[in-house]
Amino acid sequence: MAEETKKRKAEHIRISLNEDTQARKTTTSFEDIYLIHKPLPEINKHEIDLSVTFLDHTFAAPLIVGAITGGTSEATKINATIAEAVEELDLGMGVGSQRAAIEDKELEETFAITRKKAPTAFIIANIGGVQLVNGFGLKEVEKAVKMIEADAVAVHLNPLQEAVQLEGQTNFKGILKRIGEISRGVDKPIIVKETGAGMAAEVAEKLEDVGVKAIDVSGAGGTSFAAVEYYRSKRREKNFQHKLGNIFWEWGIPTGISIVEVSQTVSIPVIASGGVRDGVDAAKALALGASLTSLSQPILPAAVKGVEEIKNMLSLLIEELRTVMFLVGADSVRTLHQTPLVITGKTAEWLRIRGFDIEGYAQRGGN
Ligand SMILES: Cc1cc2nc3c(=O)[nH]c(=O)nc-3n(C[C@H](O)[C@H](O)[C@H](O)COP(=O)(O)O)c2cc1C
Repeated sequence: MAEETKKRKAEHIRISLNEDTQARKTTTSFEDIYLIHKPLPEINKHEIDLSVTFLDHTFAAPLIVGAITGGTSEATKINATIAEAVEELDLGMGVGSQRAAIEDKELEETFAITRKKAPTAFIIANIGGVQLVNGFGLKEVEKAVKMIEADAVAVHLNPLQEAVQLEGQTNFKGILKRIGEISRGVDKPIIVKETGAGMAAEVAEKLEDVGVKAIDVSGAGGTSFAAVEYYRSKRREKNFQHKLGNIFWEWGIPTGISIVEVSQTVSIPVIASGGVRDGVDAAKALALGASLTSLSQPILPAAVKGVEEIKNMLSLLIEELRTVMFLVGADSVRTLHQTPLVITGKTAEWLRIRGFDIEGYAQRGGN
């Protein structure tokens, strides 16, 4: 089993590096979000404070590298490189699913390297929600935490991926109850994340009720796991899976919509991921209600090159975010959360039909 998981993880990396796995038509919906330019910002750009506190940890900027990998030899280098970069920048990161290393001790180092390279950064362990239905319990989650001395645990939800994948596990019966047991039994905060298909209000509410401490919406508009599986099945000439991957390529709730759905429904913090590609996207996500932003796929090519490449990439994104904050007159992330914005087009239509307050964003006083 571990061997199969290991092989799949290697394929995910190869495909994400070499093929176009991004949504083709579905967008994040950030294009419908307008922050309001302020030619009288009345702040000093150099004094803008980007720091945030999330789950009792202070980050230099509201940005983390989302779960990508572990469990294969190339993953060791990727995790080490990302860890070194986020440590230096005082950010955080998630590791990929730790299933393979829970099943095979020899693979532990591909994850453990993360904490060695990032002794103080916020590191998030990762386990599949469907694994909790199929035999994993407190013991396995605790093992995942210990392996990397994690600050929090992400339970990932990937029904889309499992459904289009040949070897997919599609029995999700009882998953919420199992997440609740983990939330109560593990002494680290549990974050529940999607993997590129987004989350809506109803799911967020249930997760908060069972004790989950944060939600990563991981919406549609960036990496499509149907696309990743499309390429995997193509290699094997599995015609049926290949067609499923193609049909479900665009499936999911766009990231911007997901942020509003979740942040207006629950009081636990929200992480925005799924197609966050620059500081303007990040600023919109934060103004909509996210506490942190996260990106995965764009980090991979940089992670293969080296620490400096990742640092440059993340530093540029932070500078873009700072620039937006300057242009809307927000001298702190707290102020950015109160900055007025306008939601237009299909995004506004969706949110209105679903009963969310979109006028409130436009009527904010700002500073
Ligand atoms: C190669 C690759 C592997 C991934 N593996 C995992 C994983 O093991 N666990 C998980 O929770 N998410 C995983 N993800 C999903 C990301 O964490 C993220 O939710 C998703 O890619 C959307 O963000 P993006 O558009 O910035 O890539 C993976 C993403 C990529 C690109």
